[in-house]
This record gives sequence, structure tokens and C-alpha cells, in this order.
Amino acid sequence: MSEAGFSYAFPHRDLLGVSGLNPLDVRIIFERAERHLARNAERDKKGSSLKGLTQINLFFEASTRTLASFELAGKRLGADVVNFSAGNASIKKGESLADTAETLAAMRPDLLVVRHSSPGAAKFFSELTGVSTVNAGDGAHEHPTQALLDVFTLTRRWGEIGGRRIAIVGDILHSRVARSNVSLMNLLNAEVRLCGPATLLPADADRWGATVFHDLDAALEGCDAVMTLRIQRERMAGGLIPSEREYAALYGLTHDRLETAQPDCLVMHPGPMNRGVEITSALADDPERSTILDQVEAGVAIRMAVLELIAERSGERTEITP
Ligand code: NCD
Repeated sequence: MSEAGFSYAFPHRDLLGVSGLNPLDVRIIFERAERHLARNAERDKKGSSLKGLTQINLFFEASTRTLASFELAGKRLGADVVNFSAGNASIKKGESLADTAETLAAMRPDLLVVRHSSPGAAKFFSELTGVSTVNAGDGAHEHPTQALLDVFTLTRRWGEIGGRRIAIVGDILHSRVARSNVSLMNLLNAEVRLCGPATLLPADADRWGATVFHDLDAALEGCDAVMTLRIQRERMAGGLIPSEREYAALYGLTHDRLETAQPDCLVMHPGPMNRGVEITSALADDPERSTILDQVEAGVAIRMAVLELIAERSGERTEITP
């Protein structure tokens, strides 16, 4: 039974993407996360719902905040957490992804958290190992916990995001954060706008359920929130922007640029942030506007909620299949 007074069991044993979630799933995740957020502000943060379970964080791409966030989430729920990162993984020694998956499965983990540069990698691990898996970013495809923590942050400010106008600005082409956020914001009936130079917008962006803009002032008109993204050079084949200075002049967020937005327009960034390029320091650090640190704090709570919910579901499955 959910706190909202209806009976609905979270049905997923993996979280591979936002697609596949319905509004009730999101509501259950947010209710859980709200409780974890409160507990995380206390001195004693330690729960025991994942006690006895082993969580492996398998990161084939560099990460600071997402890895730390998943590690803290697992530990605060009492799981034994092991991090494998690309630098020391056998994949560097020529092992195939399938061999890595089978080797890890033989260690009998209960939860996998996977980040990889290839779309579909987390699904591959889930299918091959049968272990409950969270996608922590697969190429430019999906990053569902990031979208959940972003929308959770907005929901806590506004009550709900339905009917709100939100712009996502920058390197949409290479961004799994943008893809997952557009899906989730659409699911919850927000109006989503995408803005960036044509070279950084996917060819099919107009079919994402968002309105596409190339002019930042037009995109920001009437917006309740704007999320700006880093230029993801590591995912670019060639130079898709002329220079950082020119990019900053056209698409960098500043206090002045927000003039056409709602007076209380919030400013978001998933991090890592390049100050002076996609956002000025003054705006990133503006306590009235910036939600950046709230997003990081929400991230741990959201990941705790997701790990707990999928672990409960996979536990049920184990019981009925001896
Ligand atoms: C993002 C990612 O890795 O997709 N970062 C994150 O998870 N906080 C965005 C990025 O790399 O720019």
C-alpha cells in the first residue's frame, strides 16, 4: 500500500530506462525518496533494508558524483558495495563483456549498477546475469536515475511538474540525461523545449515530444526551469562547435539571458559543470535560482529508493522460483 492510500506494487526488477515507467511507478519512487532524503539529513543515516545483499557498481566510464551517489545509497541501506571501475577492469586486458558479466554473476551479487559507453550495456548485463540492474548511463541512450532526481527536485519545489515549461539547453545530441529527462517530463505532462546549435541536436529531436529551438532567448520565454548541459567532447567525433567562447555567447546561461523566462525560473545542471561555458559562476552559485546542489542531494535519496524497490521485487521473484 502506498502512502497515497492506494494499493500498487512496484513491478520492476531492473531500472534500465525511463521508458517502461508509468506515473505510478514514479510516484512510488518519489515517496520512498522523500523518506530517504529526510533520513539522510540525520546524524544516523544507516538503514538495513539491503542488509545481506551485495551491490556491484560496474563503471566502464569515468564518474565522480554518480558512482559516489550509488555507493552511498547502497551503504546507507546496509548493502555490501563493491566498485569496479574501467581503470582496473579486466575488459582492458581483452576480456569480453559477456565474460565480465558471467564472472561477476558467479560472485552472486544481488544488485548491479552499470555505466558503459554503449547503448544497451545495462540491459545486456541484466539479461545475461539475471541480476537486478540499474542503468547508470549507457552511451547517449538513457540515464534514468539522473532524470528521476532532476524531476524529483522540481516536484519538491512545485508540487508537480505537469503544465510547467522546462527548457533543456546545450549538447542534446550526446546527452543521455536529456533523453531520459524528456521522456520523464513528457510522462508527467510538462512542456519540454530543447535548445542548441543544429550540430548538437539529434536529427529526430522533433519526434521526442519536445519543441526544438536554436535561439536561446526564444527557448527561454516563459520557462519555469532551464537545465543546461555540458559539451560532451568525449562523445564527439569531430568539432561540432566553433569555439567555447562563441558557444558561451550564444548558449551560455547568464542572469541577463533569463529575462524572458518566468521571474522565479530555476536553473539546473546535472554536472559536471564547465563554469563560464554553459553557465556563469554567478548563476550556478545563485541560491535563489540554482538547484544544482539540491539535485546532488536528491540523487542519493532517489538511488536509495530505486535500489530498495528493485531489490524487493527481485526478492519476491526468487521466492517463487526456487
Ligand atoms: C552526466 C552523464 O554522465 O551522463 N553526468 C552525470 O551523470 N551527473 C552528464 C555529463 O557527463 O555531462
